[in-house]
Amino acid sequence: MCGIVGYIGKRDVAPLLLEGLQRLEYRGYDSAGIVVTSPKAAGLKMVKAKGRVRDLEARVPKRFAGTTGIAHTRWATHGAPSDVNAHPHLDPENKVAVVHNGIVDNAAELRAKLEAEGVVFASETDTEVITHLIARSQADSLEEKVREALKHIEGTYGIAVMHADFNDRIVVARNGSPVVLGIGEKEMFVASDVAALVTHTRQVVTLDDGEMATLKADDFRTYTTSGASTNATPETVEWEAASYDMGGHDTYMHKEISEQPDAVDRVLRGRIDDRFSTVHLGGLNLDAREARSIRRIKILGCGTSYHAGLIGASLIEGMARIPADAEPASEFRYRNPVVDPDTLYIAVSQSGETYDVLAAVQELKRKGARVLGVVNVVGSAIAREADGGVYVHAGPEVCVVSTKCFTNTVVAFALLALHLGRIRDLSVTDGKRIIEGLRKLPGQIEEILKSEDEIEKLAAEYAGAQSMMFIGRVRGYPVALEASLKLKEISYIHAEAYPASELKHGPLALIEPALPTVAIVPDDDLLEKNRAALEEIKARSGRILAVAHQPQEKADHTIVVPKNEDELDPILMGIPLQLFAYHTALAMGRDIDKPRNLAKSVTVE
Ligand code: M6R
Repeated sequence: MCGIVGYIGKRDVAPLLLEGLQRLEYRGYDSAGIVVTSPKAAGLKMVKAKGRVRDLEARVPKRFAGTTGIAHTRWATHGAPSDVNAHPHLDPENKVAVVHNGIVDNAAELRAKLEAEGVVFASETDTEVITHLIARSQADSLEEKVREALKHIEGTYGIAVMHADFNDRIVVARNGSPVVLGIGEKEMFVASDVAALVTHTRQVVTLDDGEMATLKADDFRTYTTSGASTNATPETVEWEAASYDMGGHDTYMHKEISEQPDAVDRVLRGRIDDRFSTVHLGGLNLDAREARSIRRIKILGCGTSYHAGLIGASLIEGMARIPADAEPASEFRYRNPVVDPDTLYIAVSQSGETYDVLAAVQELKRKGARVLGVVNVVGSAIAREADGGVYVHAGPEVCVVSTKCFTNTVVAFALLALHLGRIRDLSVTDGKRIIEGLRKLPGQIEEILKSEDEIEKLAAEYAGAQSMMFIGRVRGYPVALEASLKLKEISYIHAEAYPASELKHGPLALIEPALPTVAIVPDDDLLEKNRAALEEIKARSGRILAVAHQPQEKADHTIVVPKNEDELDPILMGIPLQLFAYHTALAMGRDIDKPRNLAKSVTVE
């Protein structure tokens, strides 16, 4: 949601910023805008457009030269998507330009106050109050003007500000919305996401909440909102520019599904300890004594990450015998939960930015809880806020729907479960067994990916359905939940997931030939129970597509996946259903990488 990109240096800034905005398109947006200037220019030049970055590009005039600029992709919160509501927002004198990610909670109150003082607003946005506050400040420097304005703001922001009277600099500030500086050779960049920076530099500074920065062409300075210097030093980002390319695939989703063998290999690399049949997780910050004293584990995440957390909870409970459960972070933080000092909380997030997860982490920390993060984006807000954690090392995920990150997150949970289990009561033999299973995963995923042609044919058969049911039992249930989410997100087919054990308690009423069921049927101790559910569906003339370790007699079709250890089977059983959702959506002509109404990072409530 919303993206910021900015540049100050010697290059022609507009093409650079437009390319940066394209790299942020995956986050989801509805309008875009750009403002530029240069040291010799008389003022600011701005273009905005509702729609895609290409619509903005088409409006940029031939004479739009500049060497300093900021640009934005907007996801509407206050005011509908429109040219005028797109960022940047300028003051009436065209001196101050602001782009903003986040939400100004007290915007209505500030707007009323400013209007009473005679300010005329051009847009319906919350952001415009920041522009007017900066423009009305009597302070001598741009930094001080921004600081004064921010004193009035309640809410979250990542902002970049330009001023016609201070056109040798861009001033940025962060509170709850990411701001990353890109440090170049006699040029500086700023963005809300490293994706917009890595083609130019891998030297970055991630601002903390309450931190500001001044960027000049050959210099940058970081300080707090109260003016104290923070002297931030650049770090090198591990993700390369090529990781953001499509790499010969037609969609990012297809690319990311195909990358899973390598991604899983990465999350395992360097972590397995054969000597003690365990794993090393360097960033956990939890010694053996502390690990032994945990009485309960609560996992929090949203969407796909919540589903990964459900599998994580069952892995932890199974291997470490610690009671564990998962809950949507968005629900947890609104029910005034009892925060127990003996409970370990784990926040799961691909982006590390999801507002509901971040807010839950902050609330837990405020109450003195210990919170770990299971996160993909290194240095992201949730990773920084947590007391320790495990990076899932899936590499950048660009498609709005999560695939490789889901798989890697579940593998990261398997590592955590093994680690905790081996500190507690998991035997060496079981530790070895799980390690062997983990090592088999990349090869087995390769094998599953080879069945893509077969899955594509099945998808074509089921693509006409109005609605689909997904069922699974115990370990299979979160797989069913995730597979149904994947299908609905990109095909827009209504899909619901139920525990197979609950069929008789209601959903069986829906079963008829027009409602196909996808059933997760692993070869484990529940095989016969799962088969009984298939019988029940067949007896009502329901069509069944099974994902199983062997062909299922009652199913109309079975996708056979390789068997691993029972605990690790859910990792493999989800993968053919990612391809199933993909090919169903493709057959229906959907915009797979950018499904309607969805954004990659949900940074607002
Ligand atoms: O970045 P996060 O993992 O915190 O994101 C959480 C959800 O918004 C995300 O998983 C969402 O459900 C995706 N669209 C799933 O495909």
